[in-house]
Amino acid sequence: MKRVYIFDTTLRDGEQVPGCQLNMVEKLQIAKALQELGVDVIEAGFPISSPEDHNAVVEISKSVTQPVICALTRAREEDIEAARSALRFAKRSRIHTGIAVSDIHIKHKLKTTRQEVLHMAESAVKLAKKYADEVEFYAEDAGRADLDFLAKVLQTAIKAGADVLNIPDTTGYNTPADWSNKIKYIFETVSGIDKVIVSVHCHNDLGLATANTLAGVLAGARQVEVTVNGVGERAGNSSLEEIVMIFKTHPELGFDTGINTKRIYETSRLVSRLMHMPVQPNKAIVGRNAFAHSSGIHQHGVINKRETYEIINPEDVGVKLSSIVLTSRSGRTALMYRLNMLGFQVDKNNIDEIYAKFLRLADKKKEVTDTDLYLLMKQSKDQGFYSLEYLEVSIKLTKLAQARVVLSKGSNKIETFAEGNGPVDAVYKAINQALKIEPHLEEYLVQAITGGSDDIGRVNVQISYDDRVFYGSGSDTDIIVASAKAYLDAVNKILIKN
Ligand code: KIV
Ligand code: ZN
Repeated sequence: MKRVYIFDTTLRDGEQVPGCQLNMVEKLQIAKALQELGVDVIEAGFPISSPEDHNAVVEISKSVTQPVICALTRAREEDIEAARSALRFAKRSRIHTGIAVSDIHIKHKLKTTRQEVLHMAESAVKLAKKYADEVEFYAEDAGRADLDFLAKVLQTAIKAGADVLNIPDTTGYNTPADWSNKIKYIFETVSGIDKVIVSVHCHNDLGLATANTLAGVLAGARQVEVTVNGVGERAGNSSLEEIVMIFKTHPELGFDTGINTKRIYETSRLVSRLMHMPVQPNKAIVGRNAFAHSSGIHQHGVINKRETYEIINPEDVGVKLSSIVLTSRSGRTALMYRLNMLGFQVDKNNIDEIYAKFLRLADKKKEVTDTDLYLLMKQSKDQGFYSLEYLEVSIKLTKLAQARVVLSKGSNKIETFAEGNGPVDAVYKAINQALKIEPHLEEYLVQAITGGSDDIGRVNVQISYDDRVFYGSGSDTDIIVASAKAYLDAVNKILIKN
């Protein structure tokens, strides 16, 4: 197996996205998660761009020691000095310096000449070489550059001492075949290329980032520049989880990464939560529906043998189970499978009656949830669920938020009051008090179902209790009410299980 190095730029290219900015604590949290995931290089920031970015590189260098820590610069002395200072605590440091090489960038952005670009590239690499353990050179907009000039710049960077050459398709312009030819051309024409690592950095403007990254590796690149969930400028970067799982799913390609794939899902959710970037439900590998099956035929197949409709074992990426989404198209096998998983004893002898009830419910609802199934199966009066009878929340800018909730189950009502860091925290504490339970909130995700400020919001939560994970969802025009419903949905499942 040939090793492909994973260069993660979630904290640099990913963090450039408006609205995704992270504070220092969050950056450290992500950097530590990336270390656990097993990435080879973490691009921790662009130190000259702001004091916050500079400090982030310093703090990550101090506490994350296994991967190489990398800092981005332009081909300017002051940038490289800033990177040197930010990287001073790194166990293994890399300066990522470079310059644009396409004519459109040279003329309209840099307002300079090809000759000057060659000179700046050489000086930048030479200076960076004095300050870091490794130097990576990027040829920005290589994807639209004149190939002979690109080869010349790369040659210059090698001569000046670069250890890694990054070939970015900055605007996501190339198709896989073109990209492959360009990388092959570089291998054929640049002397000394066999002494350095060639890296590909692909953007997703045409939805081809992953395909181009793969094409780059097949053409000889041995480092890939990726982000978790594919976050990044415009349509994003090539996604870490996709490229890693391509190599794992296709061992015949002969490539290996050092990624602990079982940590992919958790890392994806951490990045999504901290960057406020929901993962699209049908996103490959980490989307909520990536392992969900809704048609009866598929469900039947997956239940009999997972591989009929799944090419990846969900557990390999840290997803506990493939999910069978119950709808009116689901058959008896799927219903039985799900009910048995929820702890009900159902078999061929008693399924018909339950299935008839299920179909009546499924005709009214788009999706039949676990909560619906519990209600469908409830055997005695007090096996029912708590529901939200009343909710009052008060928020004042300078004070803790307050929540009053009334929960009911049959004729039984419980009223509680709690304070919290925000309205959702206060509501969750009030529910905990009412039900005398303290689960751990693992994930909280808000999504708008339709557009506009009067739309329906849907909240999904994941909580853990006694080493088990429970999911809940709720929707409402008020996001706090949706949050309360989602949490109560999950807590009810704990109560019925205990
Ligand atoms: O897309 C790009 O060209 C970049 C470089 C700065 C490496 O992000
Ligand atoms: Zn980029």
